[in-house]
This record gives sequence, C-alpha cells and structure tokens, in this order.
Amino acid sequence: MAKPIAIEVYNPNGKYRVVSTKSMPGTRWINLLIEQDCRVEICTQKKTILSVEDIIALIGDKCDGVIGQLTEDWGETLFAALSRAGGKAFSNMAVGYNNVDVNAANKHGVAVGNTPGVLTETTAELAASLSLAASRRIVESDQFMRAGLYDGWLPHLFVGNLLKGQTVGVIGAGRIGSAYARMMVEGFKMNLIYYDLYQSTRLEKFVTAYGEFLKANGEQPVTWKRAASMDEVLREADVISLHPILDKTTYHLINKESLASMKKEAILINCSRGPVVDEVALVEHLKQNPMFRVGLDVFEDEPYMKPGLADMKNAVVVPHIASASKWTREGMATLAALNVLGKIKGYPVWGDPNRVEPFLNENAPPPAASPSIVNAKALGLPVSKL
Ligand code: DGY
Repeated sequence: MAKPIAIEVYNPNGKYRVVSTKSMPGTRWINLLIEQDCRVEICTQKKTILSVEDIIALIGDKCDGVIGQLTEDWGETLFAALSRAGGKAFSNMAVGYNNVDVNAANKHGVAVGNTPGVLTETTAELAASLSLAASRRIVESDQFMRAGLYDGWLPHLFVGNLLKGQTVGVIGAGRIGSAYARMMVEGFKMNLIYYDLYQSTRLEKFVTAYGEFLKANGEQPVTWKRAASMDEVLREADVISLHPILDKTTYHLINKESLASMKKEAILINCSRGPVVDEVALVEHLKQNPMFRVGLDVFEDEPYMKPGLADMKNAVVVPHIASASKWTREGMATLAALNVLGKIKGYPVWGDPNRVEPFLNENAPPPAASPSIVNAKALGLPVSKL
C-alpha cells in the first residue's frame, strides 16, 4: 500500500479530477482548468523525483487526466493505473517525451501531450549562453574572483576563444537547432555548418541574406554549408551544439571516436538529452585535452554526473535549465494543462503544434483544442479546423 501523498486542491467540487505531479509556474494553467469544471490536485510532496508508486497513489481510483514531468517513468504500469481510474489524458510538461512509452499509452487509449513551440528560443538562448561561458571561461573566472585569487591584470589570464569568424556546427537543425544557429551566426558572425537528414532551407536563406547584408556593409560575409555527414561537422566546426532527439540511433552519438575527430580546442554543447553523449568517454577526453571545452545542460544519469566530470575546469555544467525562463515555463504549464483539458472535453487536436501562440495569449480564451498530442494519429483523434 503506497503512503499517502501531500496535495493541494483547487476547486474541490469540480466534475473532472486533474492531477499535476508537481507545482508548475504561473496560475493561468490552474484557472483554465478550474473554469472548465476541473478539480485540480497538485502534488506538494517534498521529493524531487516521484516514483511510479507515488504516482499510482496520486492517480487513485478516479482520475480524468494527469500532468507529469520528464523525470517520471510513464510506462505500462502508470498508463494501466490511469486507464483503470477512467483517465484518458496525460501530458508531459516538456517537449521531449523519451520518458513516455507511447505504445503503452496507445494500448490503454490515453492521449499523450507535450509542449513544443514555447521552448525554442529559450533553449537556444541557453545553448548560446553555454557556448559563450565555455569559450570565454566565465565560470572558471568567476570562481577565481570569488576565491580572492585576482591580484592584477595579466596577459595570459583566462585567455579563451574568439567566436567571430569561427565555424559553429549544429547537429540536428530542427526548431531549436536552427534558432541556436541563427543566434550564433547573427550575434557573433560565425560561419555555419549543419547536419540534418532534412534540408533547412529557411536557415540557409537566413544565413545567405545575412552574409549579403554584411558584405554590403563592407564586412566579411558569413557562410553556410550543409554537411553530408555528422563527422564532417565534428571535424570542421569550432563550436558544436547537439540538438537531436534521443532514440536508439542517437544514443552515444558522441563517443570516444567522435570526440577524437573534433578539433583539440573545440567546444561541445549539449542541451538535448544526456545519453546522446557517452559521458565517461567525455570525461576522459576533457582530461586528455585541457583546451577542449564543454557546456552541458543534460547528463547521462540525471541527476548524477559521471565520476570526474565535476572536477573538470574545462566543463560548464548546469542542472537541465534550458527551458527555465519564466515565459517558457508558464507557457509549458499552460500547454500541458490544455492538452489534458482538451481530451477530457472531447476537443480536437490543434493542427500545428508549433504554432501555439493562440493558446498563450492571456487576454483571450484559448482555442477549444489540445495544443499537441503526440499519439493523435494512433488514437484516431480529430484535428481542429481552426
Ligand atoms: C524538454 O522540454 O524536453 C526540456 O528538456 C525541458 O527543459
């Protein structure tokens, strides 16, 4: 028998019971659910990662939908429990859903939501921040100052890499990868090399136009190249940012061999998913190549780091905060709540999950649709005509 779990309840007499496994930023998401006759229960247990048993206890005997987090293991056991409780909807408060067994959800007829369209710029900004922090050795310098070690300007003190004129490499030029590429090209006048199975015509056009603008202003134009292989990016780029989804094909995409093919002074950024990088091999590479630098938002065994990583001065590490801007996190909460609400109310699924602005406009009611249901097709859910 699972232990009782601490919860906070809004609108106790609501007809539909919606559970959120965590408190989420903002209040709009709660109000939107309450306005539509939902009783909202938010888990307030002081435990960062809830176990499957904890979540089963939260679901209880009657539950119409759950909003959950990427740290939770949403597989057969939880979808069976949700379905037994009469639940038809689950939404991750994340764009990534590698913690969700969508086949198990399909089997139990549960719609699975995610939150694309609202994280793009925020995540790209963190990748850009890590690129700067690593190239200009910001964290090392900060620690040096705080330790009282600065006793005067020196020609060699914390010399890093100039980004202007260097090449930024992007692996996975989808929404986030393209936004990051644009920031680095436009902000720091870097040349671009990218690898993606699909051609990113918009990105190419952007870099071409920006290059022409620079040329017209008497500056060195920026260039772009679509690489034929990922290895080409690894060999040629000075700063490489990883933006693939995590699946069998991208697990340990960066390993001992691929690290060895990179420039000795390259910078590697990962804001995608930890297991895309073989972290043990990375630690060894950082030890052997002190001028190689890395900026990591995600880790192979989150919340842990592989032994040795925390001691590496050439690594900047942050705790999975790529989407952590107020606007984005409140937007993610709203989208996750509306995914669940839409299914409960029998609304159709929004036609373009990347065009979610109408759901985020606080001055108007959101469209009567679920913003993004990843298994809509498998469940045969209708698509909104709006
Ligand atoms: C996501 O949404 O997948 C992110 O990793 C959360 O920041």
